[in-house]
Amino acid sequence: MQHWTAYWQQADTLNSFAEGQAASGYHGELAAFWRQQLAGLAASATLMDLGTGNGALAVLLAEQKQQRATNWRILAVDAADIQPQRLIAKQPALAKPFKQIRFLGHTRIEQLPCANASIDLLVSQFAFEYSELSASLQEAWRVLKPGGRLIAVMHSADTALAQDSAVGILVMQNLLAADGIIERVLALLPLALRSTQSPQFIQANQQLLQQVKVYQQSLAPAAAEWFHYLFAPFASLLFQPAVDSPHQAKRLQQSLTYYLQRLSDQQAACITPDKADGIQQQLQKLRGRGQLAPLYIEGQLFGLALMAEKV
Ligand SMILES: C[S@@+](CC[C@H](N)C(=O)[O-])C[C@H]1O[C@@H](n2cnc3c(N)ncnc32)[C@H](O)[C@@H]1O
Repeated sequence: MQHWTAYWQQADTLNSFAEGQAASGYHGELAAFWRQQLAGLAASATLMDLGTGNGALAVLLAEQKQQRATNWRILAVDAADIQPQRLIAKQPALAKPFKQIRFLGHTRIEQLPCANASIDLLVSQFAFEYSELSASLQEAWRVLKPGGRLIAVMHSADTALAQDSAVGILVMQNLLAADGIIERVLALLPLALRSTQSPQFIQANQQLLQQVKVYQQSLAPAAAEWFHYLFAPFASLLFQPAVDSPHQAKRLQQSLTYYLQRLSDQQAACITPDKADGIQQQLQKLRGRGQLAPLYIEGQLFGLALMAEKV
């Protein structure tokens, strides 16, 4: 979980996989999808966001609570050590919705700190599928009230996001490999600080340039895009080495390792036909009503939406 904890505690974003882009929660058709799911909820309902991260979906719930003038109780859990309140310093507007949300870190979906039949609506955006599905469905059914619903938007291997992530994972693995480009950058920086004229530096630099060139030439366009994006911060340390550049490079290497772990989690979480069958079968055993259907956002396959009701 360290890779998620580090992300949530360091990123200035509400939602995940937001590197390189503004990430202030969910908007557009996706937000509209979630707003629709809230229709008909009692004013006194208890809602819980599963795998909330920095609370993108929980914030949407809190905003709807205010707009609909309800007394909803909003809980938001995540297995990582999340500290979303930290974001308020940079985004003061979050103070208001955050006041409406009870965040619980170190809390796994498979073991929720709730009484039996105490929740009206469980929601999850790209998180339920990261947990152990069978145990989590069982747990969801324990905590849901009769008539309560579980709605989870989950990753699917068929989405452009999953396919692009697979490319990113390969590039990251290559960069981080023993004797890979990042290791060479780390070895080169102390030499650069001593002297960029020394034969040792010149030789190591040439080897690195050659390695980068050969690697770049081997890449298809999507992989090349990943490479440029991931390598740019390391390259800028090399162009203007400063006293703390070796430490910065180590930190960048650590974040890249965490990024690789998060993307690998995402790939492992994708709902495959087998997993989808497993979910349907378990729903039948739990005598749940529901469906698992593709969700399209802005004309593109976005994921699979599980919409289930405890009868
Ligand atoms: C892709 S992020 C999604 C976060 C958030 N829902 C969003 O849309 O930005 C997946 C989250 O699931 C959490 N997670 C993974 N396994 C979990 C589990 N078994 N129980 C609770 N949270 C889990 C991770 O810590 C991470 O924050």
